Amino acid sequence: MDKEGTSVFIGEGSIRTRVAQLAKKISGDYADVDELLLVGVLRGCYIFLADLSRLLTVRRRIDFIAVTTYEQAITMPGAVRLLMDVRSDIAGKHVLIVDDILDTGKTLRYLQQTFKARNPASLKTCVLLRKSERLVEEVQVDYLGFDIPDVWVVGYGLDYADQDRALPYIGMVKTKKA
Ligand code: IMP
Ligand code: MG
Repeated sequence: MDKEGTSVFIGEGSIRTRVAQLAKKISGDYADVDELLLVGVLRGCYIFLADLSRLLTVRRRIDFIAVTTYEQAITMPGAVRLLMDVRSDIAGKHVLIVDDILDTGKTLRYLQQTFKARNPASLKTCVLLRKSERLVEEVQVDYLGFDIPDVWVVGYGLDYADQDRALPYIGMVKTKKA
């Protein structure tokens, strides 16, 4: 797939408005807890988490995990592997997983199962984008930014072959057929 160009798909203003709405909702929902542990899924989450976490009004801590999928696996295509775990013990904590995009759902499903087994006080998920047509795994999303069609998006943390992460807007990649 060769990249031909990028067009603005969700503009900066729309992202800002939606992230503020999510932050308000999350702050309200967690108003009574001592502390919220935000766990960002690297690397795509980094801008979303930075913006979201600064708008929250609840006491919070930030941690990160990194995952990858075994692209080459024949027996278990799309199987997820943990590259870097959180630093803290999440038992008894109120945990909110923050991810950039839900595509097949395999990443988030894996993380939900892995984290649930560690007995957090509560476990919820916040995802900026969801490609609902692509979902193969049933995954519970508690806070969602936008539902989008099956297109490849970049910017605001998301990449195409590790490029375009730092675009201030969410762009749609146009590819030319080889
Ligand atoms: P999953 O298929 O739901 O496990 O998606 C896993 C990961 O694929 C996401 O967290 C992203 O890092 C990446 N991904 C899926 N679709 C896109 C896209 O359109 N742009 C950039 N990254 C994507
Ligand atoms: Mg990701």
